[in-house]
Amino acid sequence: MAHIVGISGSLRRASFNTALLHAAAGLTPPGSTIEIRSIAGIPLYDGDVEAGGIPGEVTALKDAIAGADGLLIVTPEYNNSIPGVLKNGIDWLTRPPADIKRVFGGRPVAIMGATPGLGGTRLSQAAWLPVLRTLGTAPWFGGALFVASAAKVFDADGRLVDDAIRSRLEVFVRGFVEFAARHSPA
Ligand code: FNR
Repeated sequence: MAHIVGISGSLRRASFNTALLHAAAGLTPPGSTIEIRSIAGIPLYDGDVEAGGIPGEVTALKDAIAGADGLLIVTPEYNNSIPGVLKNGIDWLTRPPADIKRVFGGRPVAIMGATPGLGGTRLSQAAWLPVLRTLGTAPWFGGALFVASAAKVFDADGRLVDDAIRSRLEVFVRGFVEFAARHSPA
């Protein structure tokens, strides 16, 4: 039994990554939950803004993650790396640094992602690894999910229509939920 917070790194309405997150939430084993949260509304990081106080959206997301057994990051890939909008969101969640341990320390984290091309976010997921290490998380390496050719995997309404991917997603979610339940610092 685990409570997971999931965030998608894409803001667009028809995002494949947000669709993947919704599909994951629908495949959570009984007794466990994936609460879908958003990075929408988080401003661009600016030390001057921070000096005036941490934005409410940031504080709310930090508290949600701190109260969860694990964090599921669903990342797009931009230019073979992390999309700036998602990195910006995570960067805000690490402010002030004194809070990093509360939010990220020892917290189970899983990464997955989707692209319309063939790579399935392999390079973006790899680019997240030093960030997860820096934040002192407990990354889950018990599974991996690279969703390629996403336009064939989801229909026009964002529903997962590929049975093979659904099976792999279900195994991925179950594995991470079990890991998060065992290693939760919450
Ligand atoms: C992309 N895209 C992309 N895809 C990929 O597989 N490797 C890449 O390096 C890039 N680079 C890239 C850069 C920029 C600036 C954009 C806008 C897009 C395509 C990307 O995977 C595609 O737009 C996805 O649909 C984005 O994810 P969402 O919004 O569907 O979740």
